[in-house]
Order: sequence, then C-alpha cells, then structure tokens
Amino acid sequence: MNINAKGPVRKVIFDCDIGWFNDDAIALLFAHQSPEIELLGVTPVAGNFDLRNSVSAALKVLEFIGETAIPVCPGLARPLVHERTSYTEAVWGDWAKEMPEDRLPGGPPQLKADPRLAANFIAETILGHTAPVTIIATGPLTNVAVAVRMYPEIVNRVEEVIIMGGAIQLLPGGNGNITPGAEFNFWVDPEAARIVLRSGMPISLCPLNVCKRPTFTIELYERVIAEQSAVSELFRLGVGPHFLDPELDRKKPRLYYGLCDSICVAFCIRPEIFETHRLHVDVDISHGLSYGASYGFVLGEYRTGCESDFPLYGSTKEMTVVSDVYLDEFIQLWLNTTTGKEGNRATVQQP
Ligand code: BDR
Ligand code: CA
Repeated sequence: MNINAKGPVRKVIFDCDIGWFNDDAIALLFAHQSPEIELLGVTPVAGNFDLRNSVSAALKVLEFIGETAIPVCPGLARPLVHERTSYTEAVWGDWAKEMPEDRLPGGPPQLKADPRLAANFIAETILGHTAPVTIIATGPLTNVAVAVRMYPEIVNRVEEVIIMGGAIQLLPGGNGNITPGAEFNFWVDPEAARIVLRSGMPISLCPLNVCKRPTFTIELYERVIAEQSAVSELFRLGVGPHFLDPELDRKKPRLYYGLCDSICVAFCIRPEIFETHRLHVDVDISHGLSYGASYGFVLGEYRTGCESDFPLYGSTKEMTVVSDVYLDEFIQLWLNTTTGKEGNRATVQQP
C-alpha cells in the first residue's frame, strides 16, 4: 500500500506496444510513478515495434529506474489476421525489422523477461486476485483478445479495461491517423479490437480524439530533465535526441504523440479531469477501405426503415468514451507524478 496515494490504489496490468523511446514508455513511467497505481506486470505486444524490441524496451525502462520486481511477459509477435503489405510495412514502424539491442543506452537490458506468456499472465493475474484488476492497453489489442478467448471467465472479473484506440467520428477530432477512419492500434489488429470491444468487459475507451490533444513541448521536456532522478535521466536519453533532430520544426518543437498513451493512465487515476460519453463502439473488419475503422454510435438513432436498427447484427455493450481532457490539469498531474512530486519517486541511478 502506497501511503502517498490520494485515491484508492488500483492494481494494473500495463499492456503496450512500447519501444525505445515512445509514448508507451512515457506512459509506463507515469503509471509506475503514480502512487495510485500498483503495477502488477507489463505485457508488450508487436505494434510500434517488433516484439523483441518491445520486450527489451520495457525491461530497459524498468531496469533503468531500479524496478526489478515487475514481471515483463512477452505477448504476440503478430496481429491475429492482419498480414504484411507494403502499406503495412510503411506505416507499421519497425514492427517486423530486427533492430539491434545495442542501440539501447548501456546495451541490452540485464533484466530477463518473465517466462509466462502475456495472455496467460493477464488471465491468471485477474483470476488469481481477490482485489479487482484493471488493464491499461496502449497498443494493438492482440494480447487482451487472446486472453479473452482463452479465459472467457475474465470478462466478469476484470475491473476495467482502459484502452487507447480508435477514432470516433461522431465526436470532434475523429479522423484516423493511418487511414481516414482507422487509428493505428485498432488498424494494426482490427479483429483483436473487435473481440475486446464485443467481449462485454467494462471498457473505457480513450480514442485519438482525446489522446492527440496534449502536446509534449520542449518546455515540458526541460522541466522533466531539470529534476535530478533516474526518471529525468531516462527522459534525457530517450526523448532528448528528438529535440536535437535537425528535421524538427524549430518554431514549434514538440514530440508528436509524446503524451498520447499517458491519457489512459491519467484517466485511471483522475477520471474527473475528463469529459466522457456513453456510446457503443465497434470496429470494421471487412477487408476494404474501412478495415480497422471504428464507429461510435447510440443505439436506436439510425433507423433503417425496417424492424431493426443499426447495426443490424447485434452490438457491443455501451462503454465510456473519453472525449476531452482539461489540459492544464492533465499536464500538471503528468509532470508532478512523473517527476515524483506526488510521491513514489524512483531515484536509483543507472549507468
Ligand atoms: C497509438 O498508436 C501507437 O503508435 C501509439 O503508441 C499510440 O498508442 C496512436 O494511434
Ligand atoms: Ca502505444
């Protein structure tokens, strides 16, 4: 029990397409530093990076801040159905490439991955705890979908699944970032997203609409590295090179998507700084222009003229859709928590 927590401490599994050094890494640090979160494990999945890179980045981040007790359980190395094409290769980042681990500061992590597979770990953790367990999922939903398919009993046991994914056209700012209607995480594994959204688990969805609102500015970066801690050193090594990039827009230097996944963590600990709607959300898995696009809707609003309403073939359960954030409160929360001003500060300095 963390005595610095303001609210109840939530038990969290962090499922992510983490890489060196992306928004998932930033969100993992934010969650780790939060006194209101007890991190039970990290389950990397292929998405922004290939699985090997994801696992080693997760281990490296934890090792760097001296955190050796949190298991990192590898997940799936490919989406359920989505195959490689030249388009997927172009937009999937480095997912299928062999990236050398020695590009990590200090070389590959010394910490080893846990032998349990992500889907088993997720289900066993949820079923094995009497206290409720929440999943924060900031990558493609492959691991969570497999856990649901292997252990359907977790559906009624999980406290909440907080997801970064989708783009909801019904709400302001609802364009996709990979195709006009599809956001990256849902587009990488549309079938997994659909399984999870249709599972019946209590879901809070943080779509691109809200996740692209905060900006990771150079001023924010400078405030983080002004602190003397392992976390600030990690930001200097991980985020610093971005701000030295000659291609960077010097008039508006910012880390694109830097705080995207951190929205889920903030929603977990301070839901009161967000606006939400109750909607049904589903994902298109037909292999056409809308593959991976998400739709948010209110049942009964789209009459077909016949007896049934859209979507005709059954629906997802209603879920909470996070639509906007009080930006100043969010940035303050992120900064105070990540730098340790809200307690739980990591101070172990690594080489
Ligand atoms: C999402 O896609 C991933 O690349 C980011 O980490 C974020 O979770 C944004 O579409
Ligand atoms: Ca992510």
